[in-house]
Amino acid sequence: MMTDQTMDTPRIVILISGTGSNMITLAEKARSGEIPGMVAAVLCNRPEAVGIQHAKDRDIPVEVLDHKDFDSREAFDAAMIPLIDQYQPDLVVLAGFMRILSEDFVRRYQGRMLNIHPSLLPKYQGLNTHQRAIDAGDSVHGVSVHFVTEELDGGPVVIQAVVPVLNDDDAPTLQKRVQQQEHIIYPIAVKWFVEGRLKMSQAGEATLDGQALSASGIQLTD
Ligand code: GAR
Repeated sequence: MMTDQTMDTPRIVILISGTGSNMITLAEKARSGEIPGMVAAVLCNRPEAVGIQHAKDRDIPVEVLDHKDFDSREAFDAAMIPLIDQYQPDLVVLAGFMRILSEDFVRRYQGRMLNIHPSLLPKYQGLNTHQRAIDAGDSVHGVSVHFVTEELDGGPVVIQAVVPVLNDDDAPTLQKRVQQQEHIIYPIAVKWFVEGRLKMSQAGEATLDGQALSASGIQLTD
């Protein structure tokens, strides 16, 4: 049963596919009060994902819905909606949720769904971002939090962290450096959202305290 306190507390549902390190960070910061919201549930599309146990260990309700049990993307996405909506989320957080989302699903949560993507968007939408940054000879790389829109990895950016690419980096070392920043910037963005400071405008811009953010959002440099 919801108490008065849990009814007032902004509710976050986190979607994961894998380890769930971002989910863990967000859950712990919500529990400590650093993020003034609660992780109401975690949904995972891979029954073997280790993040499921990490959520259970933290007494977070977990919904597992295997996308392989569905004939189409649309059918899977439609089945996710009631599982998510039963927790009445104010915010849906994609944290390593490795699925392309259908239009109907995106529209339902537009303006209240965030994603974290391991590149300095608009660079390197899609997969293998760390290797692509190394192959291109980039001197910097990073990570972006953005609102989710119908364009894959294309919604308005809220915050980015920039890291150096070192001469001896391979994809795993670069990924590790980027992930350390993920665990800093995702809680900041989620906190802003649940505090009501971060919004997506009708014009499709990310705004913080009513001010439109630039195309690269707020930038943190290592
Ligand atoms: C994160 O590094 C995130 O940036 C990436 O998946 C990882 C999940 O890690 N997301 C994407 O590539 C989305 N296109 P986690 O499960 O430990 O949070």
